[in-house]
Amino acid sequence: MTKKIILDTDPGIDDAMAILFAEAHPDIELVALTTVFGNVTIENGTRNALYLKERFKMAADIAKGASQPLFRSPVGPTEVVHGTTGFGDFHVSDNVSGQLDPRPAYQYIIDTVKAHPHEITLVAVGPLTNLALALEAAPEIAQLVAQVVIMGGAFGENDHRGNVTPYAEANIHDDPHAADRVFCAPWPVTIIGLDVTEESFFSAYYLDQLRHDAADVGQFIFDISRYYLRFYSQKVGLDGCHVHDPSAIAYVIDPELFITRKGAVRVVCEGPASGMTIQKLDTRKYQTDEWSSMPAQDVAIGVDAAQLLDLYQKSLIDYAHKQ
Ligand code: BDR
Ligand code: CA
Repeated sequence: MTKKIILDTDPGIDDAMAILFAEAHPDIELVALTTVFGNVTIENGTRNALYLKERFKMAADIAKGASQPLFRSPVGPTEVVHGTTGFGDFHVSDNVSGQLDPRPAYQYIIDTVKAHPHEITLVAVGPLTNLALALEAAPEIAQLVAQVVIMGGAFGENDHRGNVTPYAEANIHDDPHAADRVFCAPWPVTIIGLDVTEESFFSAYYLDQLRHDAADVGQFIFDISRYYLRFYSQKVGLDGCHVHDPSAIAYVIDPELFITRKGAVRVVCEGPASGMTIQKLDTRKYQTDEWSSMPAQDVAIGVDAAQLLDLYQKSLIDYAHKQ
């Protein structure tokens, strides 16, 4: 059955890869992109979302979201990874046409979830500020979503603990208070963190092949990924890039690709470990215990990377041939 998703995103190179994956796959109806600060400013990220809608003739609504975190001081755009405007060396013109939804992202999320009770999957691949604001304004949406899928966090599985600090992943580090609220809310959350996203790689060869086989969409992914690959080669020492945001979409399409583990999840909100995600794994009730009263969420700890890469490639090639 087709799943309706709202994709909350900070586009972003791997965000664009995820957006196009969602647009391409027939099992997903991409209802909207809601934007958030993160990889780039909210202005640049929203312009990038509008550009994708225009270039790929997407039906999705675009709603502009939060420009800063709930409480912490902003970390600032990650230019070293995504370039100054978010798509690496590929610059979107200032004159992108296309209408934004008049509502702020959090209000768009509330209204859409209420209009389609139990049908909307919220997929968030940036800082979780918009989702936290939606929960604050309308806590009842927690009972009305189908599910929530997050790309973010790191739990030390497969030795993956952090990418922006030794113990924090970027999306959670950008707004730890928002993440803690989202993980503690009474809705079903699946967390696709570095534990699995750093186990899959788009190699330079894979992206070359996609350019060859997936027409305009393959060419676009190739173009934006040049800068990303340089970052990975120069700073991480890899001939390829991790598959962060597209992994959250892969989970929506085929959860069987992943192994998950249940337990309440909290986020460290202050100090040097700010942004660290910690899952409670035992059933003991401690004297002081700020996990046990929280809902058990699913954390991905294993992935079939080969199948995930095949799914992405096939989806984009099939989509390209239908255009
Ligand atoms: C996450 O941070 C951002 O740079 C990426 O778009 C992804 O959502 C990976 O840590
Ligand atoms: Ca992202």
